[in-house]
Amino acid sequence: MAASAARGPIGDLLESRRVLLTVGCGGVGKTTSAAALALAAARRGKRVLCLTIDPARRLAQSLGLEWASTDARVVDPTLLAKVGVPPEGSLTIMRVDTKATFDGLVTQLAPSAERRDRILNNVLYKYISTSLAGTQEYMAMEKLYALRSDPRYDVIILDTPPTTNALDFLDAPERLVGAIDSPAIRWFVQALESSGKLSFNLVAKSTAILLKGLGKVTGSGFLEQVAGFIKEINALFGGWKQRADAVSAALRGLDVAYCLVTTPDPLAIREVVFFAERLKSEGMRPDVFIVNRVSPKLPTEPEHAAAELAEAGLDPSPALVEKCRRALDDAAKNGRLDHIHMMSLEPTVEELNVPMVTVPTFASDVYDLEALSEISTRLAPPHGGAGA
Ligand SMILES: Nc1ncnc2c1ncn2[C@@H]1O[C@H](COP(=O)(O)OP(=O)(O)OP(=O)(O)O)[C@@H](O)[C@H]1O
Ligand SMILES: [Mg+2]
Repeated sequence: MAASAARGPIGDLLESRRVLLTVGCGGVGKTTSAAALALAAARRGKRVLCLTIDPARRLAQSLGLEWASTDARVVDPTLLAKVGVPPEGSLTIMRVDTKATFDGLVTQLAPSAERRDRILNNVLYKYISTSLAGTQEYMAMEKLYALRSDPRYDVIILDTPPTTNALDFLDAPERLVGAIDSPAIRWFVQALESSGKLSFNLVAKSTAILLKGLGKVTGSGFLEQVAGFIKEINALFGGWKQRADAVSAALRGLDVAYCLVTTPDPLAIREVVFFAERLKSEGMRPDVFIVNRVSPKLPTEPEHAAAELAEAGLDPSPALVEKCRRALDDAAKNGRLDHIHMMSLEPTVEELNVPMVTVPTFASDVYDLEALSEISTRLAPPHGGAGA
C-alpha cells in the first residue's frame, strides 16, 4: 500500500489499467487531460497511444504533429525527453476519423466486395457515417476496441468527443444500433417489401417518422436509397450488433479506468455526478475525478496591493492601488466560489470513495509542451506524491 500511496491515485491507474477514458461535458478539459495523462504515462516509461477526436490544433503543433493527419503519429522522442520521458517511454497520437473507422467496420463485416461497395456508396450510409448523433462516440470506441490488445502499446488513453451530455458516450453503441434497427425502420422495410414500389406515399409517411430520428436527408431517389441501405445493412446486422455488444462490454471491462473531468462550474459538476451515478447503477464506478481550471488560492491579500505593485516595479499610485486591490479581491472571490462549488462534489466523492485531483487554471490556454507537462505533474507527480 505504501507504494500505492507514493504513486498517487492516477499513478496507480497508469500502472494498473490498460485503457483510461476522459469523460465530461463540453469544454471542461477532456482533451487537455487526456494529453496530460498520456504524457504522465510516457514519463513512467510506458508506450502510450492517445486516441483523440478533436486534437487541439496548437497543442498538436507544439508536439510537432500535423493536426489534420489521422495516421498514428509518434511524438519526437527528443521533445519528450525534454519533459522527462525516459527512452523506453513513447507517445503516439492518433486522431479518430469517424467515417474511415465506419467504412472499415463495414468492410470487415460485409460478406462480399460488391455488398460492401453498395453500402459505402449509399446516400443514407454517407449521412449516418458522418452526421448521425452518436456515430462519433461509437466510432471512437470502435477504434479503441480494435486497438485495445495492440501489443505496441502499454496504455491507451481515449479522449471522448465534445458531447454536451457525458452520458451519450456510454449509450452510443446501443443508440447507434437502435437508430438503425428501430421499429420504425423495420416497419418501413416491411411496407416497402409488401408494397413493391406502388404505395410510396404511405412509405413516405413512415419515412418522415424515421427521419425525425435520423435528421433531415434530401435528394432524388432517396426512398430507393433508404430501401437499398436497409436491405444491405440488415445483412450485416447480426455482425454489427454483436460487435456493438462486444464494444459495449469492453467499455465496462475491468482494465478500463474512467477519469471524470469537470471544472468547478456547477453544471459541469452536476454532469459528472450523473455520470458517476450511472456508472454505479451499472455496477461500475468512476476511478478518479479531475477538477480542472480551479482558481488558485490567492498568494496576495487585497490589502497588500501596494506592496504587490511595488514588487512588480510599478508606481503604487492611489488609482493603481485601488485597481489592483479590486482585481485581487475579484480573484479571491473566484477562488472562494470555486471551492464552494466543489463542495457539491464531495458527497459523491465520499460515497463512492473516489479520489479527486485538482488542476489550477492557467493564465492562458494549454497549447505547449511545458504547460502540458505542468498539468501532467499535477495529475500524476512523476516521483511519487499523492497528486493535488
Ligand atoms: N487548466 C487549464 N487552464 C487554462 N486553460 C485550460 C486548462 N485546461 C484546459 N484549458 C483550455 O480550455 C480549452 C478547452 O479545453 P479542452 O479542449 O481540453 O476541453 P474539452 O473538454 O476537450 O472540450 P470539448 O468538449 O470541446 O472536446 C482549451 O483551449 C484548453 O487549452
Ligand atoms: Mg475535446
